[in-house]
Amino acid sequence: MTFEQFMEHYKQEIEACMKRTISATSSDQKLEQSMMYSLEAGGKRIRPLLVLATLIAYGKDPKLGYETAAAMEMIHTYSLIHDDLPAMDNDDYRRGKLTNHKVYGDATAILAGDALLTKAFEIIANDINLPATTKIELVQLFAKNAGVAGMVGGQQADILGENKTLTLEELESIHQRKTGALLTASVLSGAIIADATKAEQETLMKFSEHIGIAFQICDDILDVIGDAVKMGKKTGADFDLQKSTYPALLSLEGAKQALTEHTTAAKHALGMLDIDATYLLGLTDLIALRDF
Ligand code: IPE
Ligand code: IPE
Ligand code: MG
Ligand code: MG
Ligand code: MG
Repeated sequence: MTFEQFMEHYKQEIEACMKRTISATSSDQKLEQSMMYSLEAGGKRIRPLLVLATLIAYGKDPKLGYETAAAMEMIHTYSLIHDDLPAMDNDDYRRGKLTNHKVYGDATAILAGDALLTKAFEIIANDINLPATTKIELVQLFAKNAGVAGMVGGQQADILGENKTLTLEELESIHQRKTGALLTASVLSGAIIADATKAEQETLMKFSEHIGIAFQICDDILDVIGDAVKMGKKTGADFDLQKSTYPALLSLEGAKQALTEHTTAAKHALGMLDIDATYLLGLTDLIALRDF
């Protein structure tokens, strides 16, 4: 399967899995619609694809990771719904469509985010393809990386960093938590399901930490010079909110150089492992070479 075929095929599988799970719930219709609205709005599906690419790298059946991949995309989507709220980044467009709160109102958008987050853990707990010990490890990983030590803590630090000039270390730490943590959890969840050794997981963690930072550097660069239509979200938002970003701190050229350094380091880490890293490398390039 070529990389393009891998992307196309597994995106469909992940989307089908998410749809199955949400339509199996019998909750308030407006809430379900609001959850599905954001899940179906598109998105590159990079995190769930990282879960499956890691499984494939270890020669495992990617089907073993469908539920975990779907759970991760739900956590990511919840983080975007809340990130766009007026009390946070106050954005009107996401994935080429109006943001969730613009369509359903702030209260339902908040609740849709809450429901996606909790649904993710329900899906993992209910996964009939994985042993209980694996599921506990996945719950620990996702909870830690999505929570105060990971994405949520990073979002808080990002907000506290508005209107301030941070050091490069502080900025790296924010990027690592707000964006890197979910990418790391994606790769490591694949490694856990594949029964990778602790030493291998350490190396994969290095890989994913670098792609995590690279991902947010790229997002920051695109916020300055990207095409809003192609990206499906507004540009210039970071400047308006006086966010701490790589281009703000290092200039555009400095940010691009940091992106290259992190991508090179990520590939170097992958090269240390005895796995078929084809799709992981493909995803790394996709992250680093986004359309500037
Ligand atoms: C956007 O993530 C938010 C960040 C963490 C920078 P993506 O760029 O992966 O968004 P989608 O899922 O493709 O919409
Ligand atoms: C958001 O970072 C990271 C999340 C945890 C959602 P941004 O605020 O830069 O993401 P965009 O640019 O709105 O997608
Ligand atoms: Mg934000
Ligand atoms: Mg934002
Ligand atoms: Mg951004």
